Amino acid sequence: MPTYQLTINAKKHRVDVDSDTPLLWVIRDEIGYTGTKFGCGMGLCGACTVLLNGQPIRSCSTPVSTVKLTDKVTTIEGLAAGNAVQEAWIEAQVPQCGYCQSGQILAASALLASNANPSDEDIDNAMAGNICRCGTYPRMRQAIHSAAA
Ligand code: FES
Repeated sequence: MPTYQLTINAKKHRVDVDSDTPLLWVIRDEIGYTGTKFGCGMGLCGACTVLLNGQPIRSCSTPVSTVKLTDKVTTIEGLAAGNAVQEAWIEAQVPQCGYCQSGQILAASALLASNANPSDEDIDNAMAGNICRCGTYPRMRQAIHSAAA
């Protein structure tokens, strides 16, 4: 089984897994960051969203072999404590069941890193790939505006 070296949440990790193993399972099962969730497994729902060099990606459909040691993978556990997005999420009481929210927060963080003052349309476009079965979209939008303020 091949060995892969990854940088996740600013720490280097070595894992021995098959080359087509999704990054999601490496993050959860090999490394133990269980904040990244499995939803559809087909790149459709966004529950498994992590940041790769600051950009949101679907870790369920990203083979571990495509991630280099020099790439920076960030999971929900890698966000700084007390960061503005998570604080805004808490303030707006966004989560209902909570399952999709780590992916939502990472997608929102990436949006705000590239657009410090997004419009409602910018938010809807950026977050469109992250599905929430509880329908917390209005509160997420509110929290993103609050974090941007
Ligand atoms: Fe990856 Fe749904 S679990 S997009």
